[in-house]
Amino acid sequence: MRGCNKIMIFETHAHYDDEQFNGDREEVLLDLPKKGITPVINVGASIESTKTSLALAEKYEYIYAAVGVHPSDIGDLNEESFAWLTEQTKHKKAVAVGEIGLDYYWEKESSVQEKQRYWFKRQLELAKSVKLPVIIHSRDAADDTMKVMQEVNASEIPGVIHCYSYSPELAQEFIKMGYYIGVGGVVTFKNAKKLVRTVEQIPMERILLETDCPYMAPEPHRGSRNDSRNIPFVIAKIAEIKGLAPEEVEEMARENAFRLFQPGRL
Ligand code: NI
Repeated sequence: MRGCNKIMIFETHAHYDDEQFNGDREEVLLDLPKKGITPVINVGASIESTKTSLALAEKYEYIYAAVGVHPSDIGDLNEESFAWLTEQTKHKKAVAVGEIGLDYYWEKESSVQEKQRYWFKRQLELAKSVKLPVIIHSRDAADDTMKVMQEVNASEIPGVIHCYSYSPELAQEFIKMGYYIGVGGVVTFKNAKKLVRTVEQIPMERILLETDCPYMAPEPHRGSRNDSRNIPFVIAKIAEIKGLAPEEVEEMARENAFRLFQPGRL
């Protein structure tokens, strides 16, 4: 299947609608398939970025969209906007509900955290009802994330814990529920010991490659604007940790992503 050593990377988490790409978005996006990066999931994080993610997916054949509202943007959600979001899940290029979840790192107010849990649950239920996988953002909220997921029987909803930042032990719990673990630039950071141990301990069959660009650029580009062309640095690090060839990491992660998101199934 591989033929010549051409790389083929499935980018599972990007934000190309971010204003940091306003100057050269078209140029960067047109270069991705030339660099072997295809397909790409552009992930919504608010009502507005759900619209812009779908617009990118309509414009570029190799881009798909995740539709959803991030815990930091739940101010966007009410019954009317939720009904609109529900409609968007029927778009033929919508492959996931995301990114949704809990973020107690940025939000310390308990009444707002409670609202995050409410809308996390509602969006999980939405994913279940429309049979789409979920992309979960969870920061400093491990216990409550697990609790909300158990309340909705999340083992019946396939998904990924994106930009995974918890312990290797908890990763195993998510994997038992059928979840994938999203690994990006952080794994290359010098202080990433916990994530390195997680990657060591979980099976390659459960790892997805992602950037979260424009954020989280891997070494040696840490701190600069990130894009999917940096994923080979993440692949190299995972290959080193797991004692695999970079091509094996790339191909297995690609198969995992196809299995979860099934782009083009409609
Ligand atoms: Ni993101």
